[in-house]
Amino acid sequence: MVKLIIDTDPGIDDAMAIFYAVAAPDIELLGLTTIFGNVTTPMATRNALRLLEAAGLDAPVAQGAEAPLVLPPFTPSAHVHGAEGFGDIPAADPKAKPLEEDAADFLCRMAREHKGELVVCPVGPLTNIALAMQRDPDFIENVKSIVIMGGSLEEGGNITPHAEANIYHDPHAADVVCSGGDKVVFVGLDVTHRILCVPEDFAAIAARSPRLGGMLQEMSHFYIKFYLEVAGLNGCSLHDPAAVIACTHPELFGKRQLPLRVSCEGETSGATLAAEDSGRAPVNVCMTVEADAVKNLFLERLALLP
Ligand code: RIB
Ligand code: CA
Repeated sequence: MVKLIIDTDPGIDDAMAIFYAVAAPDIELLGLTTIFGNVTTPMATRNALRLLEAAGLDAPVAQGAEAPLVLPPFTPSAHVHGAEGFGDIPAADPKAKPLEEDAADFLCRMAREHKGELVVCPVGPLTNIALAMQRDPDFIENVKSIVIMGGSLEEGGNITPHAEANIYHDPHAADVVCSGGDKVVFVGLDVTHRILCVPEDFAAIAARSPRLGGMLQEMSHFYIKFYLEVAGLNGCSLHDPAAVIACTHPELFGKRQLPLRVSCEGETSGATLAAEDSGRAPVNVCMTVEADAVKNLFLERLALLP
């Protein structure tokens, strides 16, 4: 059983990843931490609470940073995930409230309490993770691993020609996390672009899981419309779900070990770059994926939900 915390900016594919984690029999979801990106941080917190409420899971949510470490705050990408984060689904206020403790403190405490067992899966900008590393020098030692949806080594970017969106939105934080060594795993565009879900897949999920799968199907219309407009694809990449699946099924991903840095300025800002001469310890970057197996896990396990 993997003890998991997802650091998230929900977000349509974030919702898919969170519902997948709720459904997965080999994941114990210990909580969610929230971050800006697809939406603002307060919206991310509201949406995270709402998803847990819909799924009937009583797990804590800790609100994270509202701005990048160094860059100024930015306006979220409403054209990708909708003004409220879930496509055309209107906003709704959950009953539950977030913890008093902020995301970085919660992550540090949970890593201490579950020393050697906690897997952290960030699927948004890496600000909270960098803050946790800066606040607690033992954070990296205490976690089992940090499995990140982010970056691109050879695939090119999705927000600029060079950068993947989660890294682009806080490159300084991502560069801090790149210093974390062999417990750090990047599940980036090199693999997530290989895993595509089409409208028929979401229809199949909704047929087997009418309430929660149906919610994902409704969100997916907006997301796939964006993919059609920008990439001419009638389907979407399973970015955030792929990172969660990499936490329990690492054997489905082929990894390259190399020291990594993040460009923090100019037109390459947000690019993840090999840094052989940096003196940094190597991290793991996923370069190949058994895409059909990942997609089947996603479809089969979501179908377990009501
Ligand atoms: O580049 C893909 C990532 O950007 C995903 O995490 C998606 O949710 C967006 O935040
Ligand atoms: Ca995300």
